[in-house]
Amino acid sequence: MNTFYDFTERLTLIKKQKSAFLKIAQHSKTPLYLFDKKEAQKNLKTFKNAFRNEGIGINIFYAVKSNYYHGLLKTVVEEGENLDVSSQRELKLAIKAGAKRIIYTGPAKIKEDLELIVKHYKKISVNLESISELKLLAQIAKEKKVVVRCGVRIYTKMQNGWTKFGIPMEELATFFHEAQKYKSIHFCGIHFHISFNKKPEKYIKTLEVLSEYLQKNFTQTEREKFEYLDIGGGFYPQQWQSIYAWNKDQEATIPEERDYIKEILEDKFSSRTLTVYAQPIEIFAKQISHTLKTEVQKILPNVSFYAEPGRYISHSCMHFLLNLVDVKTPQMGITDGGNNMVGWELFQFYYYAPIFNLSQFDEEREIPFITYGSLCTPDDIWGYYLYTKGQPKDGDVFLIPYQGAYTYTLAQQFIKDVPPVYDL
Ligand SMILES: Cc1ncc(COP(=O)(O)O)c(C=O)c1O
Repeated sequence: MNTFYDFTERLTLIKKQKSAFLKIAQHSKTPLYLFDKKEAQKNLKTFKNAFRNEGIGINIFYAVKSNYYHGLLKTVVEEGENLDVSSQRELKLAIKAGAKRIIYTGPAKIKEDLELIVKHYKKISVNLESISELKLLAQIAKEKKVVVRCGVRIYTKMQNGWTKFGIPMEELATFFHEAQKYKSIHFCGIHFHISFNKKPEKYIKTLEVLSEYLQKNFTQTEREKFEYLDIGGGFYPQQWQSIYAWNKDQEATIPEERDYIKEILEDKFSSRTLTVYAQPIEIFAKQISHTLKTEVQKILPNVSFYAEPGRYISHSCMHFLLNLVDVKTPQMGITDGGNNMVGWELFQFYYYAPIFNLSQFDEEREIPFITYGSLCTPDDIWGYYLYTKGQPKDGDVFLIPYQGAYTYTLAQQFIKDVPPVYDL
């Protein structure tokens, strides 16, 4: 169990909802995803307020790719926030959810993508990726006699490894002047993004070099034309999920001679899991806001600030509810749901997530116990430890809480159907 963060609040929530979860498992067929709207609302508020408390208004464009569940998208819209989409599919989902403002980000947009964007142009700001994309969009928009609001995605040294996206920051001035040539393009935004940020440094350094670049390469009148600065997503939440101590390098192939299952079941590790440290959102907000206030606002006086958090919003608002179908040994059993619910072998080697036996609830006693999924493959593992009061039995109900980010959205029809979502 993760010993660094205080998950008391999370545990209290599980305890409060435990009987409801058990009833759901009784009346609706497991496996199920459980969607917790309140968690989504809470995360949106916490994110927004963290910046607001530092004097910065942030427009949230929730990244649909992290979890596209309709109930979640609708919640974001109901809360007055917006959506970030990356494909025609996601754009259609965003429209269906009633989004009023949408950011369309993503590489290599093709003609059909741009045609759909143009169709919904009133709601959309497009983060462009290249001059050729700019030209193609300008052409399509001109034919339809509309003006599309656009920005461009840039990268700096801080987006190392993400150079497939956008243009180098040093080409921003050239891009800006090219965009002025097209009457069908209203060019007014700058965007950058990189994922998995456990601390705010990369945002701050990007903002610093960008401010310096804009100061040197743009006139004040040109800079005044910018209406939005989109700092992307990538805010890593403080998660219960952590790394297995027996595989701290997250190796996907364990040497054959190492009987790691035996090591786990014999409980050889004093600390079973290793925390993935991430700073709280308040620290991100404090430091980013400081840079926005001291460096950016004077350079780009007319910009609104946009952010595209995905994981931060979605991670805690979905849980998995499973039924233990077949206990094979005192230390191993198989549940009805399989890893097709998360799309890959997420919990086999890479990450630990707590599993609670709700039928025999115990928040203290976590035993080595392999919970397999029911797919016809040995690689279908939910985890190696289980919170349970007594020996797990056939029919016990298992909860894997706070697993909403990049799970439902990656789910596959591999062997089994993707299970339904239950709205709590
Ligand atoms: C452009 C863009 N924005 C936002 C996100 C969301 O990132 P995260 O879920 O890490 O916040 C991503 C994810 O890769 C992305 O590519």
